[in-house]
Amino acid sequence: MAVLKIVTYPDPRLQQKSRPVEKWDKELYGLIEDMEHTLDAAPGLGLAAVQVGVSLQVFLYDENAGGGKSTKSYTAMINPEIAFQEGEIKEEEGCLSIPDYRDTVVRAAVVRVRGFNKEGEPVEVSGEGLLARVFQHEIDHVNGVLFIDRLSSLKRGLFLRRMKKLQRQTKAELSGKV
Ligand code: NI
Repeated sequence: MAVLKIVTYPDPRLQQKSRPVEKWDKELYGLIEDMEHTLDAAPGLGLAAVQVGVSLQVFLYDENAGGGKSTKSYTAMINPEIAFQEGEIKEEEGCLSIPDYRDTVVRAAVVRVRGFNKEGEPVEVSGEGLLARVFQHEIDHVNGVLFIDRLSSLKRGLFLRRMKKLQRQTKAELSGKV
């Protein structure tokens, strides 16, 4: 049981596709439990294993996302893929791995996700609105895609410049030159 450190951009692991889970074993259950504690301690509605440095196709989502409930209730989705999607919705989005940055991303309005649950049984879940967004965001993580990869080239350019500036500031702070 542990709260794990969240990997942040530009860590290259965030841009690699994760491996499918093949064994439902103690290690997997331990990972899911640690991810639950990590997400509990973070202001997020979903978390992918790659965000805690484990390159496996696993993500957690808050079932109550967008449902107006203030309690969090996590479900694990394993080896997920989008089975169906429909519509289009533009909303602001953020990511625990890209702190202090939000931007508008176009996503499908409704999705159905196919995968496996913690017990290893095949499952399909549908979501719309915020929950659909969480599903798409987390499945992107599993595939090594970040929401900034879905911005227009102009906005992506602005983001990259901002990141460089932040990195220069951090370097200056570390070397005591502020
Ligand atoms: Ni994210």
